[in-house]
Formats: sequence, structure tokens, C-alpha cells
Amino acid sequence: MEILLAPTPDAWVRAAAGNWRQVLNDHAQCEKKAASTALALMFAYPEDRRLASTLSRLAREELRHFEQVQKLMITLEVPFERQRPGRYAAGLRTALRTHDPGRKLDLLLMGALIEARSCERFRLLAPRLPAEVSGFYAQLAHSEARHFEQYVALAQEAAPEWAQRLRELAGHEAGLATAPDAELRFHSGPPPALEPAQ
Ligand SMILES: [Fe+2]
Ligand SMILES: [Fe+2]
Repeated sequence: MEILLAPTPDAWVRAAAGNWRQVLNDHAQCEKKAASTALALMFAYPEDRRLASTLSRLAREELRHFEQVQKLMITLEVPFERQRPGRYAAGLRTALRTHDPGRKLDLLLMGALIEARSCERFRLLAPRLPAEVSGFYAQLAHSEARHFEQYVALAQEAAPEWAQRLRELAGHEAGLATAPDAELRFHSGPPPALEPAQ
């Protein structure tokens, strides 16, 4: 199943492959954020037992990914740096409905889109990175593909209009992932021309 409405631009792939250390630092934050998004949904909808069991496992897996990225950063001597929040997540949130019914579906679909974009980008980057990172990114692409399917399955159960709403949110997501961005992030659009850092 393909849910993204636009592929990641080549300009992002080139910039990210040339500056993969910087991307790795942001990627570590993304894994933590993925776990916290899943936990927030469990707190928001405690009566949904299927959601709780699916997302509890997913959150554990995201924290495991975080630990793996952190270990890799230490091995490769990539420094941890504090970053301001990027445009992508904040931009996605502007499209979310603020109240239920509606909000739950939007949050699940947003989860599906972020996982699908992550999966696409791990796949694009894996063959262009040094061996230590390449194998790991190929492995992560599989996990994120499974996560996006799990979010879609929960969205299908949440509301009958899921497919129509998915198209709307996917259009919004595609704009954020492809429009020129101020800086390079794991989920950003193409940044201004960067000098490769390696
Ligand atoms: Fe992950
Ligand atoms: Fe994930």
C-alpha cells in the first residue's frame, strides 16, 4: 500500500547523504518523538484496547530504535546537539482537527504518514551511506513500513471516512516534504544548497 502523494525530491536525498551526520542527530530525536506520539495516543484514548496494545509495542520499538541510533552516534563520534523543532511536524499539526470525532482519525493518519515518509527516506538513503549506517537504515525501513500499516489499520477502525481524509492529509504532508525548507532535517523539504560536511 502506497499512501504518500509525492516522492522525496532528489535535492533532499543528495543533501542528506552528503550531511548524514547532521541527519543522524535529528533522526535520534525523531525516534524519541515517535515513541512519545504513540504514548500520547494511548493516554488520549484509554478505552481503545486494540490501540493501546498496538501502540505500546510500537512505542517500545521506537525507543529501541533511539537506543540503536544513540549507540551508532557514539561509535561514529557524532555529537548530540539541541535543535529547534523543524517545520514538518508543526506544519502537519496545523491540519489536525482539534476535537473528536475527527481528531482521533487525524492523529492516526498523521502517524501513518510520518511512518511512511520515514520508511521512504530510510530506503532512499540506505544505499548512499557508509556501511555502518546503511545496513541499519535498510533494517529501519522495514520497521517503519510495518508501523505505517499498523497506523492505517487503526485509522480504518476509527472512522469510515478514513480513506478520503487520508488523501487530504497526504496532500498536506506531500507539500511539507517537498517544498524548499530553511534547514536540513530528517523530514524537511530540500534545504538551501549545502556544502557536504564530509
Ligand atoms: Fe523508528
Ligand atoms: Fe516507526
